[in-house]
Amino acid sequence: MHSCMANLGARSTAEEALRGISLRGKTALVTGASSGLGIETSRVLALAGANVVMAARNTAAAEEVARSLREALPRGAGILSVRALDLADLGSIHAFAKAYRARGEPLHLLVNNAGVMATPRGTTAQGHELQLGTNHLGHFALTMALEPVLRASAPGRVVTVSSGLHVRGSTERMMETLRSDPSYQKRKYVPFDAYGDSKLANILFARELANRLGPAIVAFSLHPGVIPTPLSRNLGVGGWLFRVFGRPFMKSVPQGAATTIFGATAPELEGRSGEYLSDCAIARSSSDGRDSEAARVLWKESERLVASTA
Ligand SMILES: NC(=O)c1ccc[n+]([C@@H]2O[C@H](COP(=O)([O-])OP(=O)(O)OC[C@H]3O[C@@H](n4cnc5c(N)ncnc54)[C@H](OP(=O)(O)O)[C@@H]3O)[C@@H](O)[C@H]2O)c1
Repeated sequence: MHSCMANLGARSTAEEALRGISLRGKTALVTGASSGLGIETSRVLALAGANVVMAARNTAAAEEVARSLREALPRGAGILSVRALDLADLGSIHAFAKAYRARGEPLHLLVNNAGVMATPRGTTAQGHELQLGTNHLGHFALTMALEPVLRASAPGRVVTVSSGLHVRGSTERMMETLRSDPSYQKRKYVPFDAYGDSKLANILFARELANRLGPAIVAFSLHPGVIPTPLSRNLGVGGWLFRVFGRPFMKSVPQGAATTIFGATAPELEGRSGEYLSDCAIARSSSDGRDSEAARVLWKESERLVASTA
């Protein structure tokens, strides 16, 4: 393992964030590996030598991505493999984790990257609001189901991709969704509020995960920046205009994946488990995101919901 510890920042790419660190012999799992940041994250982890399990609900698209990544990766890169995982269905998550455990494979790096943004009102297979259900509950269930593997493979890291839009989130509204109105039957559904709640939940989850899994397994959440990926597909013409005309002000995909790679590998993050990262550095989330009591309550509620539908 070597590193020259170059200064990293908002414009750093994922490869630069790696700083020559070798992940040979490590196994990483990246969710949402079929598109956007998940592709670049998978590529750079494999470049560093890690074997990468690319989890995707659209396995045909992910196989196509994996094939083109393999063609371009140098000799000595890690092995890329594709597996089916639908984070909007706890049944799929449990089947995925059961098969993972049965294979006896290690897991050193879990990258909770998949996400949906500003979807029309919808629910997961278990009837939870789609954004909180996919972005938070799905990753919560996946991490819990893989916890024995993470522990057996320690030391390890869990990196959860949140967003600067977590500031739109509200602990109070999120709790109401989890406790009494899981599919917005009683309240008006506002797509970006629900996205904000899910991304706030990602931050609180990483905080509490750090308490529960530490010190051998560390956890971070992060804002990747604003990147023109298909994430804005639900915004219609507005999303298209945003991607086309906003591009000069955005990060590229390699820059967007940099903070994930930083969270997954940076030696200077040892001892800083639970932190929220942005631009390849420790950052400050909203005050709701720093609320340890809310993190503890969210954990309990998520545990209850996942257990009740197991
Ligand atoms: N791009 C940005 O500006 C930005 C800013 C802040 C935060 N983020 C966060 O960054 C992460 C990556 O987003 P991205 O920009 O790379 O968007 P993207 O290109 O749309 O990729 C999202 C990935 O998540 C997958 N996914 C969605 N629902 C899923 C489900 N139910 N089960 C399994 N996989 C599912 C998608 O699969 P399909 O292709 O099958 O839909 C896709 O592979 C997300 O968590 C997002 O919230 C992005």
